[in-house]
Amino acid sequence: MMIHIYLMLLCSFMVQGKIGYFWHITDIHYDPKYSSSGTGGGSTCWNTRSSNIDTGHIRPDRRVAGVFGNYSCDSPWALIESAVQAMKSKQDEGIEFVLWTGDALTHAAEMSEELRLQSLKNLTDLLSHTFTSQFVFPALGHEDVGLNFSQTAILWKHWLPSEALQTFEKSGYYMVEQKSKKYRIILLNTNLWLDMDNIDSRFHTHQYHQHQHHQQHHQQQRTSAGSTTKNSSDPHNQWRWFESVLRTAREKKDTVYVVGHTPPGVDERDSGARPLKEQHNRRYLQIVRQYADIIAGQFFGHWHSDTFRTIYSDLGVPISWIMMAPSITPGRPNGPNNPGLRLYKFETSTGQILDYIQYYLDLPKANSIGRANWVVEYSLLDYYELKEINAHSLHDLADRFTKTNDNAFVRYYAANTVSLPRDVEEIWGCGGAFSGTCMLQHYCAVTRVNPESYSSCLSSFAYPLSTDSSSKHHLYIILYILGSMACLLTSR
Ligand SMILES: *[C@@H]1O[C@H](CO)[C@@H](O)[C@H](O)[C@H]1NC(C)=O
Ligand SMILES: *[C@@H]1O[C@H](CO)[C@@H](O)[C@H](O)[C@H]1NC(C)=O
Ligand SMILES: *[C@@H]1O[C@H](CO)[C@@H](O)[C@H](O)[C@H]1NC(C)=O
Ligand SMILES: *[C@@H]1O[C@H](CO)[C@@H](O)[C@H](O)[C@H]1NC(C)=O
Repeated sequence: MMIHIYLMLLCSFMVQGKIGYFWHITDIHYDPKYSSSGTGGGSTCWNTRSSNIDTGHIRPDRRVAGVFGNYSCDSPWALIESAVQAMKSKQDEGIEFVLWTGDALTHAAEMSEELRLQSLKNLTDLLSHTFTSQFVFPALGHEDVGLNFSQTAILWKHWLPSEALQTFEKSGYYMVEQKSKKYRIILLNTNLWLDMDNIDSRFHTHQYHQHQHHQQHHQQQRTSAGSTTKNSSDPHNQWRWFESVLRTAREKKDTVYVVGHTPPGVDERDSGARPLKEQHNRRYLQIVRQYADIIAGQFFGHWHSDTFRTIYSDLGVPISWIMMAPSITPGRPNGPNNPGLRLYKFETSTGQILDYIQYYLDLPKANSIGRANWVVEYSLLDYYELKEINAHSLHDLADRFTKTNDNAFVRYYAANTVSLPRDVEEIWGCGGAFSGTCMLQHYCAVTRVNPESYSSCLSSFAYPLSTDSSSKHHLYIILYILGSMACLLTSR
């Protein structure tokens, strides 16, 4: 038996080369004013929950929020610290790097520049002290604004190679070439492509406009210095840069990871938000279609949920995929989730993604026992019974969502909120894993990254589903129960 395993390992090494790992963390939303006793004035968490909380007339027992966080709040330091410690203890060997895809700070619009800077510095220090021999590659989220690129660059300069620092300081995007390996990591600044009119309510437009104003000012300064021109079809020339990086990668026969905060497409939960400007969403898809052969993965955050997207050629053939990792913060205006951490397994010479392990924290349990016990939620191949990760296998997975004799959607739906307790999920969810409309919403968002096709997907499937007979409904319930039992059995 041992020899057999050994031979299998040996073979896989010979065929695939070296196996490595990287963490993907996202949407920490650190709230420095979080207080488990609710005495921290100014924390977004308590302000949004009750407008008269600041008057101090609320009994303290009604404000007990929990040491590790609360579903209506952003992350306290204790949660973040426990997450980073878990990253260190779960996998110490073979970590090549860490992707950190933005929204490091809470939504608190009132946070002063000093507090933002201090918070970001503390997060950076925590990661630097934990990952002493690896690089962390951060991407900017829309809540990381209010600091200019050069201030942020100073904080992160020990992680970024000098060519990367140059573009980051100017425009917030950069590329990292893994010397001696055959893959590159492209970190986009998706803030430059956002559509502020179509984004959902969680975003503080006030803050963003301040930032825009600031950036324009910044840009004008540089314009007068003759180094760049304002171009609304290509803000900060990110498209031109992105395409030139992809062209070079193809010439050198390298593969790439595309990494950013806000993904193209629409929210798979019911807000229906489509955060990128239509022209930028379209252009992103065009570029992915053009370079799908060298894109080994696309990694984003932003939605706080665990989900993915499939991208098709003009002829409808699956050609690429996007993975969104769930957030560290449990808070989300359109429905919370448990905190998550994701560990990818990949082939280090080519960047080929082999699998991932999703870790999570059962928040109510952590608060009740006073200890944060991060555990495996699932691993991708096992959970969905996939043989490999590629555009075809993920397309087939999405297709299984629509099949009544398959439990794929039941599993996906539980993972989407990171195994949120049922009673909390029921408040926010779209009707549960056996609701046809709920399935459709997710299925269309996953397979239609172009917002127009998303809308027509929803309407074209809506009619047949609305005629759901009650027997079909029963079938869903039976499947749900069977699925849950299977999940329980396999998770032991
Ligand atoms: C969040 O806070 C509320 C109000 O104190 C409490 O009832 C709830 O149990 C908390 N939830 C978690 C996950 O700690
Ligand atoms: C940052 O860390 C320092 C040193 O531990 C601490 O004094 C300070 O309160 C922290 N600030 C924030 C915003 O986390
Ligand atoms: C960025 O902010 C710092 C501190 O406020 C300031 O000294 C610097 O000039 C700013 N840089 C640019 C390019 O605006
Ligand atoms: C704006 O950017 C686009 C795409 O990179 C380019 O084709 C166009 O010429 C640019 N326009 C100006 C005025 O620089």
